[in-house]
Amino acid sequence: MTNKVTIAGGGSGYTPGIVLTILENRASFPVDEIRLYDIDEKRNSDMKVIVQYLIQKNGYDVSLKATLDPKEAFENTDFVFSQIRVGGIKMREIDEKVPLKHGVVGQETCGVGGFSYGMRSMKGFLEMVQHVQDYAPDAWILNYTNPETLVAESVRRQFPDIKIINACDQTIAIEELIAYSFGYERENWISSYYGLNHFGWYKAIYDVSKQKDIMPEVIDQIVNEGFKTDQLGESWAKAFKLMERMVADFPTHIPNNYLEYYLYPNLIVEEADPSYTRANEIMDGRLKQIEEAVEKIKSASSMDEVDYESNSHGQYIVDMAVSLLNNENRRFMLIVPNKGAIPNLREDAVVEVPCYVNAEGAEPISLREDIPDFHKGLMEAQVASEKLLVDAFFEKSYQKALEAFTLNQSIPNAVIAKRVLDELIERNGDFWVELN
Ligand code: G6P
Ligand code: MN
Repeated sequence: MTNKVTIAGGGSGYTPGIVLTILENRASFPVDEIRLYDIDEKRNSDMKVIVQYLIQKNGYDVSLKATLDPKEAFENTDFVFSQIRVGGIKMREIDEKVPLKHGVVGQETCGVGGFSYGMRSMKGFLEMVQHVQDYAPDAWILNYTNPETLVAESVRRQFPDIKIINACDQTIAIEELIAYSFGYERENWISSYYGLNHFGWYKAIYDVSKQKDIMPEVIDQIVNEGFKTDQLGESWAKAFKLMERMVADFPTHIPNNYLEYYLYPNLIVEEADPSYTRANEIMDGRLKQIEEAVEKIKSASSMDEVDYESNSHGQYIVDMAVSLLNNENRRFMLIVPNKGAIPNLREDAVVEVPCYVNAEGAEPISLREDIPDFHKGLMEAQVASEKLLVDAFFEKSYQKALEAFTLNQSIPNAVIAKRVLDELIERNGDFWVELN
């Protein structure tokens, strides 16, 4: 059986890598049609030029279309890979800069920048899910739309029975960096991890080839040798530098690097340039490259002008699809309703834990033991503040939004919470539901 795949957020810079990964895996994941769906016509048609070129260059036999019409995009599709960014990079810039202006962390998924994006993302994502329900109710949605916990929580409430798997590639990025830095093979690992999305800790990394948990020695190496960051861009290198400090300060576990926004918000703000943030870097980098690639393809005489590669981000999603299709029970780190997986955390939290993926979807693997108070306390505050934001979204409640902002651990007090909230309401306009 062959499959049809719709990429929602087709105009994203991640699309070429994902498409190439899909096509390189066609022996295990046969696909005869790829549809790019976006609400941004230019980005989507630019991406079609690039993807069509890559298909031709590699001689793949697959049909491609780009559309802004939900019916055309989703009707009878088998898989929806979602990577939509509601509001695009321009709004990401606002998520990052408005909080910084008030002296607090400005980041796309963490702190109140993440809340700003989350309010937009829940709205856009739920609309997209409704289209999938209308036109392809049996399709699987493999979702990596940020901020993932908020999006997953809103879906859990509005579409409790939907076929969706929520995934983030950051644990893979962390593991790959550890493996590269200290000479391990990640394929040999079975990792135990728990947390919320962009807010969790490794509990153990069992290395099958060594028949032991290597986490203690990895912690030692992170603290004493540091990561090898020569393959990373400057911002990511900085993020992992600070992660080294986090491991040195709290050497019992390996944290997700994103926790630094909550544990060291002061250092993050001091280092940030409020007039040039990550969004600007991406506009000047990744997005420019796309435009240049389109120009080159349109005017090129040779097929060697433009190159993209398959990548681990794409591979992760394709592996998940294969595990679903063939009922393989492969293990992935996924974002799921807790329901006891972390025994001493509220049941209705949306957590990130290892899961088996089979024909029924994601099956969380229980941790079987309680997590320590330090992590539990941090997580409980975060869960509550995220739940309040989702309440604010569904109830259109200003009060709940203010509570969510105030409780967020990157925010020092209610005065600042209110200031930032009020400015974000204004700057987001109709991207947010109207709060009363
Ligand atoms: C990682 C995270 C994603 C995040 C991305 C940002 O992949 O898991 O959730 O969106 O990094 O990368 P960027 O290059 O856009 O700053
Ligand atoms: Mn992520």
